[in-house]
Amino acid sequence: MAERNDPRESIIDRRLDGIKKLAVVSAKGGVGKSTVSAILALLLAEKAKVGVLDLDAYNPSIPTILGMRELRVGEDRGITPQSFRGMQVLSFAHFSGDRAMPLRGRELSDAVKELLAVTTWDADLLIIDTPPGTGEVTLDLLRFFRDARFLVVTTPSALAKMALDRELELLGRSRVIGVLENMSERDCDLCVRYSKEIEMACGDTDRLMSLADGMRNMAEEIWRRL
Ligand SMILES: Nc1ncnc2c1ncn2[C@@H]1O[C@H](COP(=O)(O)OP(=O)(O)O)[C@@H](O)[C@H]1O
Ligand SMILES: [Mg+2]
Repeated sequence: MAERNDPRESIIDRRLDGIKKLAVVSAKGGVGKSTVSAILALLLAEKAKVGVLDLDAYNPSIPTILGMRELRVGEDRGITPQSFRGMQVLSFAHFSGDRAMPLRGRELSDAVKELLAVTTWDADLLIIDTPPGTGEVTLDLLRFFRDARFLVVTTPSALAKMALDRELELLGRSRVIGVLENMSERDCDLCVRYSKEIEMACGDTDRLMSLADGMRNMAEEIWRRL
């Protein structure tokens, strides 16, 4: 049972009430969570007010992938995320810039809580990019947001498959809306093919958008499951 002994937790509840939450997670790093989050956000922003929250404190990559050149947040009785291409974007990179964030587990959890407690979102859907693994951030998301849904990203590698089973068990299968196979060699509703183009589109919003065009079915499917 979740404890509610930190006043920030009820503030977070209120701030994010009524906003659908989709956390993009994986047990293993480098499987394409951030890339998929960015593409999904660009596509879903065409049908809903989308917020993107980059909670990977150690390696925040959403602003880089999206090609956000200048990072700034607004202040209005707290923090307002940066508007970019019709989305609202907030990343740890807004605070750390290019510097490393040497946070230990408890401190990281505290930083996430603080960020969530002071940020005002104007969104229907919040896409949350996360660090790999079943660490502090994933556990916090499970605990804070009992209404959050999870999209688990994996790849066809045997190591990723092993990690996937562990991840699914931790999250609880009912909260997982799907398992997306990235860098895939096959076509399916939730498959994204391996393509050098994806790597090259990193940081080039228009190029990313034209690649995303071929992934509309995937975005539709995810939207349907939310
Ligand atoms: N479908 C794909 N095909 C080819 N390269 C990809 C694909 N998806 C992601 N990548 C590349 O793989 C690397 C890791 O992706 P990233 O989104 O940072 O993973 P994660 O957030 O899970 O650590 C990046 O260099 C990215 O450009
Ligand atoms: Mg990432």
